[in-house]
Amino acid sequence: MNVLTFDSDDKLNEAAANIIIGQIQTTPRAVLGLATGGTPVGIYKQVVREFNRGMFSFRNVTTFNLDEYVNIPIDHPESYHSYMNSHLFSHIDLPAAQCHIPDGNAADPADECRRYDEAIELSGQIDLQLLGLGHNGHIGFNEPAHALIKGTHVVDLAEETLEANARFFDSVDDVPKQALTMGVGTILKAKKILLVVKGADKADIVKRALQGPITTDCPASLLQTHPNLIVLLDAAAAGKLS
Ligand code: F6R
Repeated sequence: MNVLTFDSDDKLNEAAANIIIGQIQTTPRAVLGLATGGTPVGIYKQVVREFNRGMFSFRNVTTFNLDEYVNIPIDHPESYHSYMNSHLFSHIDLPAAQCHIPDGNAADPADECRRYDEAIELSGQIDLQLLGLGHNGHIGFNEPAHALIKGTHVVDLAEETLEANARFFDSVDDVPKQALTMGVGTILKAKKILLVVKGADKADIVKRALQGPITTDCPASLLQTHPNLIVLLDAAAAGKLS
């Protein structure tokens, strides 16, 4: 595990963006696993800034997002489809057919999960998986549990997750209660994982995830077993590491 700490948000976003861009430059047909939420917003902004300088192209890149809420209209401003369009996809030359987000409105969610896993398999392995970290240690929407699920599945979002994501909605009651999420098996199969965490409110969970016991109670702790994990933290999130 390679852990780097940054004293400014700009430097952290730049470092994360450079890892993504470097992956595309060395592997033009890269398969990227992408995340949403507050953490990647500045990273995507920096990726778009560099893209506009014409140094690389997404023409041959394929992307798979980690998750999408269940039963949220695709054009709802807080759907992860809308998020990806507004923060990244509408600004780059990634062909629409090459970006994948689970369909939270699928009539048969189990079938959609199977279809999503097959699409990931067909694309080969994910070269680089970008991850944020939930306050309860979730990655994707793999919430703490007695057992974790390998592939894409429907999940009931934990109370902490609903509360954390209420900031994007009018109230906590408006946050969708379920999501489709890539499983930890798929996440851990990525060739390289880039975990980015910001903020003092994540310092405890960063410590548990990176230096605590490996347990399904903290799904991110499984990342300790990954042979190619890069962790980028701001100073506040790194505050409790020893
Ligand atoms: C988002 C995702 C989640 C977030 C996590 C942190 O696609 O899968 O695991 O990365 O909830 O969210 P923020 O960045 O909003 O603190």
